[in-house]
Order: sequence, then C-alpha cells, then structure tokens
Amino acid sequence: MIDKIKSITNEVEILLKKISSLSELEEFRIKYLSRKGVINSLFENFKSLSSQEKSEIGKLLNELKKFAQSSYEAKKQEFEKKVSSHYKDLDLTLPGRRYNVGSKHLISQALDEIIYIFRRIGFSVFDSPEIEDEYHNFDALNTPDYHPSRDMQDTFYLESDTENYLLRTHTSPGQIRVMEKFSPPVKVIVPGKCYRNEAISSRSLSMFHQIEGFYVDKNVTFRELQATLSYFAREFFGRNLKTRLRPSFFPFTEPSAEMDVECYLCNSKGCRVCKYTGWLEILGCGMIDPNVFAAVGYDSEKYTGYAFGMGLERTLMIKFGIPDIRMFYENDIRLLKQFR
Ligand code: DAH
Repeated sequence: MIDKIKSITNEVEILLKKISSLSELEEFRIKYLSRKGVINSLFENFKSLSSQEKSEIGKLLNELKKFAQSSYEAKKQEFEKKVSSHYKDLDLTLPGRRYNVGSKHLISQALDEIIYIFRRIGFSVFDSPEIEDEYHNFDALNTPDYHPSRDMQDTFYLESDTENYLLRTHTSPGQIRVMEKFSPPVKVIVPGKCYRNEAISSRSLSMFHQIEGFYVDKNVTFRELQATLSYFAREFFGRNLKTRLRPSFFPFTEPSAEMDVECYLCNSKGCRVCKYTGWLEILGCGMIDPNVFAAVGYDSEKYTGYAFGMGLERTLMIKFGIPDIRMFYENDIRLLKQFR
C-alpha cells in the first residue's frame, strides 16, 4: 500500500506538470480527486487495515490528498489568470464599430412609390410573366406577324420546339393576362422587367422596366386617361412640371398618344438631351383597340378603356437628372448612396 501511494504521488506530480489546458485539468480532477476517484478509493482500502498500519499509511494518504488538491488548485488559478490577462487591454467604453446596412435599389424604391401613387386612385397591382409567348406579347395586342410595328421591337426569342417563346418586349401582355382572367371593370397596373435586343447606349439597355396601367369599364374616356396621367406626373415629379400629350401610334390603342414632360436640363428651352424640342417622352398611351377587347372576349360595344405604358428608367432619368441609363446598373456606390 505504501508503494502504491508513493507511485500515485509520483504520477500526480508528473501529470500536473504536463497539463496544458483547462479541459485536461478537469480530466485530472475527475480521475484523482472526485468522489469515485483514485485517491478516494485508496481511502476505501484504508478502512480494512490494522490500527498500527493505519497510523503510518493514514499520514501518507493525507499528504497525497493534500498535495493533489493543492497542486490542482494552483494549476487552476494559473489558467484563470491567463484568460483574464487576455482581456486586460479591452476597453469597454470605446464606441462600437459601425455596421453598414444596405438599402433598397433606387429602381425598387421608385417602383414602390409609383405603385403607391396608383393604388391611391384605385389601381390593383398584378405580376405578369417575363417569359411570354408570341400570342400574348404581339398577336392578342393587335400586332400579328405581318404587322410593320413588329419590326420596331427587337425581340429576344427563346429556343423551344413547341411554341415561340420570347422575353416580353413590353409590359402590355400584362393587359391580356389580366383581361383573360377577370371581367370588367378592371383597373390594374403591371410593373416589371422588359427585354429588347438593342444596341447599348446612354439611352437604351437590353433590360429595362415598364409600368403598364389600364382601366376598362363602361364609359371610360380619353379625358380620364389625361387626368390620371397628369395626377401621376404631379405626384411623382413633385412639382409643376409641364406635360403634354402628343398624337402617336400603337397597334393596341386607338387613338394613341405619347406623354412628354418638360426637359429637366433646359426647362423646355431646347438642348442636346431633348434634341432641341424642350420635351422628353415618358410613356405611350391611348384608348384600348376593339381588336384587343375581341382577343380577350370583352364586348367593345359595352366597354371602353384606356391603357398606358411607362418606361421607368427614362422617367427616373428625368426626375433626378441622371444622364446615362447605364448608371442604374453599374452599382456605383456614389450613385446608390444618394438614394437611401
Ligand atoms: N407597350 C408600349 C411600348 O413598349 C408602350 C405603350 C403604349 C403601352 C401605349 C400602352 C399603350 O399600354 O396604351 O412602347
């Protein structure tokens, strides 16, 4: 028994020197110092000794216990000191690091704002697919294959064996999608991305946004279209920007018009941006053609309606004086930061 105690004392001494982490130290405690540990089991054996042996061995055993316990405590303190010195230089009074929060892109912000302006006068909002078929993008909008205006729009066609799919060239197929589903009255806007195979320049990109709007009911008039558009211009541009409607042509409206707003650069005096006209075009509009109503099964004897399609980027360029459409998608932080 004496030998055993001595060898355990030795073991404890060597082990404690080697311990290099708190978890190793905990393992040590469990093995030697816990209730069922090595040292306590020696005390169990001690009970069966004669009283003469007890006095000698008891002394050794107590020494072992004390030694293991105090070395353990010392080691533990050593570790704890290390950890706290690690935090010695921490200054809790320093201000925190600023954390940069992102913000909505100006296109999304403008879409939100425009949707809000139209909702206030009773328009609902619908989504329509960006991948369209020729029927919805052209035919149902009174633009059959042979129609010359089809050349006006350079379309991205998608490869497909069954039908001719394409990336919608405008949001107007949203009119067809909604009218196919709902009978009049309908008063809806359809915002979204459009695609055209255009040469990229300061004025055009192959992807851009439009907001389509239309209202069909009994007795809807051109005068209401005009009032709605000037309400929009007033709300969106936030000042008394002059607008005008100019006769135009679209296959899906009759009569058709385009709305211009005063040139932001020259205040209508005429400059390079407005090609010396003093006006910038922001949307096409008109009274929905009876052929469009026929395609969706609306009775054009009973109902009339107006429609408009607005280019979002173009409108924003005018509102904020952004000179180049490409700036919207370059993600230059100097531009984005101005729209937080
Ligand atoms: N879809 C036309 C375009 O992309 C814009 C347009 C014109 C939409 C007249 C309309 C409309 O709803 O009535 O150029």
